[in-house]
Amino acid sequence: MSATTTLSPQAVIFDAYGTLFDVHSVIAAAEQIFPGHGDALSQLWRQKQIEYTQLRTLADAGGDVAHYRPFWDVTLDALRFSAKKLQLPLGRTAEKRLMDEYACLSAFPDAVPALRLLRDAASGSGARIASRPVSASASGPSRAVSSAAGTSRGSRPGLAILSNGNPQMLDVAVKSAGMSGLFDHVLSVDAVRAYKPAPAAYALGPQAFDVHPREIVFVSSNGWDVAGATWFGFTTFWLNRQNAPLEELGVTPHGTGAGMSDLLAFLKTVTSAGRAHVTTSRIRHSPGA
Ligand code: LAC
Repeated sequence: MSATTTLSPQAVIFDAYGTLFDVHSVIAAAEQIFPGHGDALSQLWRQKQIEYTQLRTLADAGGDVAHYRPFWDVTLDALRFSAKKLQLPLGRTAEKRLMDEYACLSAFPDAVPALRLLRDAASGSGARIASRPVSASASGPSRAVSSAAGTSRGSRPGLAILSNGNPQMLDVAVKSAGMSGLFDHVLSVDAVRAYKPAPAAYALGPQAFDVHPREIVFVSSNGWDVAGATWFGFTTFWLNRQNAPLEELGVTPHGTGAGMSDLLAFLKTVTSAGRAHVTTSRIRHSPGA
């Protein structure tokens, strides 16, 4: 896609797991239970979790949702497989402890301060990006929306999570990470029973804010997710927390950075220059896919 005209973002939507919540904060508990294997278990667990979501949604591509299972169940299945694969004796107590850890993952340290800054952004402030009020139809499919701040957004951008996590899981994670009240919407793909990168999952974002996908900046640390979101039509920012290589999918996010401060800088530039190609020393912008 070529560099398109200026469109101030109306909303910023975050992936949850790996982007706001550190999925590998389970390593400490895993290491206590299985000394020397905590990191390997956490890495494989995450890998299988994502693989299972994609397999289930792929199997449902025909139209029904027979193979969909909530993210919590998929996460448990992935843990059980990973322990077996690594030949770790996962009893019920260890399983419960690790799933309890997963329910209350730590937030990345830069997440809450940046979200507060975006939420409190007022007209004329550094982080302001032009916005318009949420329309009456902006609540989207009711099952998709597990919470809303309930306050007028004024001129700040809308803020949301759009995650594979099922609503109950997201509710607990948001609360335990100290993010209650920071989002206008917490959107779960459970509403459409299809996991990202299915277009129906990403479509929950524009439906909730009643805007075009390109007016939304979608932020994810997961390379595959940011690729899927770019294909869908979002303006995308890859929060490349792991310094990972770009996925070889022939798609480039509109912006890339290592942390939330890079995202805030990106939002300022994308607001003033739309999707124009901007390069700074820390942030790489591209014309898009
Ligand atoms: C999510 C996973 C993909 O939160 O990280 O949707």
